[in-house]
Amino acid sequence: ILIISSPLHTKLGNMIFLMDLQMMILDVIYFILRNSVRIVMRPRTKPIDGELVLITGAGGGLGRLFAQEFTKQGAEVVLWDINSSSNEQTAKLVREMGGKASTYTVDVTNKEDVYRNADLVRKDLGRDVTILVNNAGVVAGERMLDCPDEMVERTMKVNCHALFWTVKAFLPQMKAQDHGHIVTIASVLGLFSTACDYCASKFAAVGFHESLAHELLAEQVEGVKTTLVCPYIVDTGMFEGCKIRYVLHLNACISFVSQNNIVGCSRFIIFSTTSVPSPFRHFKLTGANSPIAVHSLFL
Ligand SMILES: NC(=O)c1ccc[n+]([C@@H]2O[C@H](COP(=O)([O-])OP(=O)(O)OC[C@H]3O[C@@H](n4cnc5c(N)ncnc54)[C@H](O)[C@@H]3O)[C@@H](O)[C@H]2O)c1
Repeated sequence: ILIISSPLHTKLGNMIFLMDLQMMILDVIYFILRNSVRIVMRPRTKPIDGELVLITGAGGGLGRLFAQEFTKQGAEVVLWDINSSSNEQTAKLVREMGGKASTYTVDVTNKEDVYRNADLVRKDLGRDVTILVNNAGVVAGERMLDCPDEMVERTMKVNCHALFWTVKAFLPQMKAQDHGHIVTIASVLGLFSTACDYCASKFAAVGFHESLAHELLAEQVEGVKTTLVCPYIVDTGMFEGCKIRYVLHLNACISFVSQNNIVGCSRFIIFSTTSVPSPFRHFKLTGANSPIAVHSLFL
């Protein structure tokens, strides 16, 4: 490639830069105005009646609550967990509510296991998953130098790598039908914080969501939505023993949150909008005692 540096090229370069800057400023103004309106006029929730919702880590605290909430909203659930007995327990609760649940014992860190079980789900149920909730997660809870290498690897594999395998397994069909929703359960600890393996992995999960949302936007895939959920610490046992140094009494929001309060988060997942990152991203607590922080900008 021959790079020619002439006054004409410098002028052209400056013009392109100014045009880019102008477009960015217009974009920013547009998003600020639009999202200001949405603070007052909240986006509608979309009906999920009849959707096929796959939840990873469904045997755990939040996974179980998601399964029950999606069932209440009329969806059929597919439950994935590495722990079959807790997964079966979730299925039992769903069935007691009159819902339909299928269970699969899957290690989401093992891509072959993920792809094989994705095919199995398709074969068993005769249809495609339309909502994927990437919820499985682990934490080592050790300081950087005390954390055994295997635990660091496990955290990265479950909280981050697995997102790629499940999305690769289910996104193609969602795109083909121009219908679907991918939910990433990250954490507020992916936005700031102090638990080295966990924060790094959840920061990666936030980045994964952002790049996926942008890719779908760039490809103009309008029917496949994405949502990032960043829960605050919930009393599922995952963070047992974890101490919060400063408990702020801000509408009683910033302390451990009861599992009973998590239910409302499913409502955010079913907003009929895509959550999109922006330079103005901030997370917000969705009311007193709400454990959920979500991107506040929607497309
Ligand atoms: N509890 C909290 O305070 C909190 C806060 C912020 C974010 N989160 C996130 O929410 C999600 C759910 O958390 P939770 O509190 O319900 O945790 P949990 O420990 O109760 O449940 C996690 C589930 O994931 C499953 N799992 C772990 N490794 C797996 C693997 N390799 N393959 C398949 N399943 C696997 C576990 O068996 C378990 O059932 C996690 O991603 C977590 O990081 C939790």
